[in-house]
Amino acid sequence: MLSIKVPRRFVQQPTSRRQKRFRVYAAVFVALFTFYYFLSKPIDNLAFSFDRHEAYMNDRANVDGFIAKGSYDWRKAPFHNTIESYIPLPTGKPQKLPPVQFRFLEETSSQKSLRERRRVAVRNEFKRSWDSYKIAAWTKDELKPVSNQGYDTFGGWGATLVDALDTLWIMGLKKEFYEAVEAIARIDFGKSDDANISVFETTIRYLGGLLSAYDLSHEKVLLDKAIQLGEMLYRAFDTSNNLPLDRLAIEPAKKPRGQVIFSDSSICFAGVGSLTMEFVRLAQITQNPKYYDAVARVTALFDRAQNTTRIPGLFPTWMNAYQEDLSYDRSFTLGAMADSSYEYFPKTFALLGGQEPVYEKLYRDAAAMIDKHMLFRPMLPDSEPGEDLLICGDVHANDLESIKLDPEMQHLTCFVGGFFALAGRLFKNEHHVDLGAKLTEGCIWAYKSMPTGIMPEIFDVVACDSRSSCPWNQTKYEEEVLRRASSKHDGDFEAAFKELGIPKGFSAIRDKRYLLRPEAIESVFVLYRITGHEEYQEHAWDMFTSIVKHTSTPFANGQLLDVTDQLEDQEPEDKMESFWLAETLKYFYLVFSPPDMISLDDWVLNTEAHPFRRPKWTRSN
Ligand SMILES: *[C@@H]1O[C@H](CO)[C@@H](O)[C@H](O)[C@H]1NC(C)=O
Ligand SMILES: *[C@@H]1O[C@H](CO)[C@@H](O)[C@H](O)[C@H]1NC(C)=O
Ligand SMILES: *[C@@H]1O[C@H](CO)[C@@H](O)[C@H](O)[C@H]1NC(C)=O
Repeated sequence: MLSIKVPRRFVQQPTSRRQKRFRVYAAVFVALFTFYYFLSKPIDNLAFSFDRHEAYMNDRANVDGFIAKGSYDWRKAPFHNTIESYIPLPTGKPQKLPPVQFRFLEETSSQKSLRERRRVAVRNEFKRSWDSYKIAAWTKDELKPVSNQGYDTFGGWGATLVDALDTLWIMGLKKEFYEAVEAIARIDFGKSDDANISVFETTIRYLGGLLSAYDLSHEKVLLDKAIQLGEMLYRAFDTSNNLPLDRLAIEPAKKPRGQVIFSDSSICFAGVGSLTMEFVRLAQITQNPKYYDAVARVTALFDRAQNTTRIPGLFPTWMNAYQEDLSYDRSFTLGAMADSSYEYFPKTFALLGGQEPVYEKLYRDAAAMIDKHMLFRPMLPDSEPGEDLLICGDVHANDLESIKLDPEMQHLTCFVGGFFALAGRLFKNEHHVDLGAKLTEGCIWAYKSMPTGIMPEIFDVVACDSRSSCPWNQTKYEEEVLRRASSKHDGDFEAAFKELGIPKGFSAIRDKRYLLRPEAIESVFVLYRITGHEEYQEHAWDMFTSIVKHTSTPFANGQLLDVTDQLEDQEPEDKMESFWLAETLKYFYLVFSPPDMISLDDWVLNTEAHPFRRPKWTRSN
């Protein structure tokens, strides 16, 4: 608690005029400071007082029982492909892992006031979208930001409500947080308007959101909901070999059934591997080993199969889960369909307190091949030195002899900067921290290159053969641009360049949209916390102002159709996914928050930016 004491000698001794004047100044100062303090209090106050939260529990004891369970108790649903014995959750002493965050020094008052002003601007932007959601789309999955109405996209349980819950807490929006908890207590996970649901999306957005908000607030009803939903999602593992399904059919999962369900013969890598953190955290909190067992089996398969793929070490975009075959697909990416499964290797390692070395092995062997075959330096005009800049492309390969790089980058792939940097800290690998910084620089460059200041969803560049020397070659560039243009233009480079509508250095922009995605600011945030370099805050602010300028609607923020079109009257699309509030604005907010707010030494964030509490090493445990 704040306490300002006026030194005794100013109050007790006979006062001169000078001293009197000083007392007036001091009083004014105290008044102003107190005023400012109370104004800014909700922002600085990460954790609400425990008393308040106890009172809440007492007030609403009735949210337990029926409401928490919903119309169907998933704990009673059948599970046919019974598991003989569970792989046990590691319960030993967490390891002492290397510190992730930079040791920040005390900031100056001018640094602080700038940072705070920016933080408030982010919070206001969040509040605008949230208030519209509350008025026009309450308990719906999404708000339509142009027509200002709600609609359902992810099971109809209120995806935005659950996904944004921990952001409310982190931003200190208490009243809104408890209103949301009350609405969440009434969500009925017992049924859905959709016949089947995406196991992946439901896990990362809803289960991740509930577990994280529980980790932050200890609000019991959130855990009850997480268990109900976790029990439903656990039925996705009720397959011939207990590997998870891509989609779970809700009603059939409640009934006994005659025949065995086989796991998918074609499922993307992300669909199988990015349930791990959520199920590990659910197992840790409930101490129920079956949730850990479910994902530990997936990990064991990845471990067995890692050197059987066409590029041993890497995992292909698609796999046959039924035959446990990861060798048929020839395409490899860190973008859509694969991203978060890689992301979860180092993060699960941290979440388990370093007690499961297989996650380090999976990361190490994959990272070596990503570094070797997928990372490249783009060829840039001489005016743009690019030695500190890397891009992560896709590769196609029959075998190790026929690896072909496709120098295409997705916004989704921008998470790799933070991925390498975080893993570099956890596994004490400075080279990987350096790769992380350069990859983040690649995304910052792509933002700055566009007329709107926002990176497109998918773009292409020309890859250099070498990372150390990369001179501009106009002939090569023109060939590449002509190859990408839809018409040959009779070899007229200028015409092809114009058709593609690209800034110099880019060879194509396959998808010009910006979907309010978080991955670039995610890496900027991680790199800021890891290196302490202030320029990341400047980059973050540039990104934030560009995004707000071009995506704002009267009610919230919408996806942008064309980031190369600087016309300010370009109307955003009528679509705002829940990750805008769950991830994008949370990362912006955290970049401008004191670095101990969601410290990466205490928390590890799932792929939807939901922080889970990391186990703490102590001398005694
Ligand atoms: C999911 O439901 C849709 C209809 O809502 C159906 O067309 C599709 O086949 C279902 N998929 C699975 C895997 O059950
Ligand atoms: C993969 O590695 C395991 C041990 O790590 C080894 O036994 C196996 O032969 C390897 N398989 C291939 C195809 O290289
Ligand atoms: C520039 O690129 C062209 C076409 O790819 C190639 O033939 C030429 O050798 C390159 N020039 C230099 C100096 O590398």
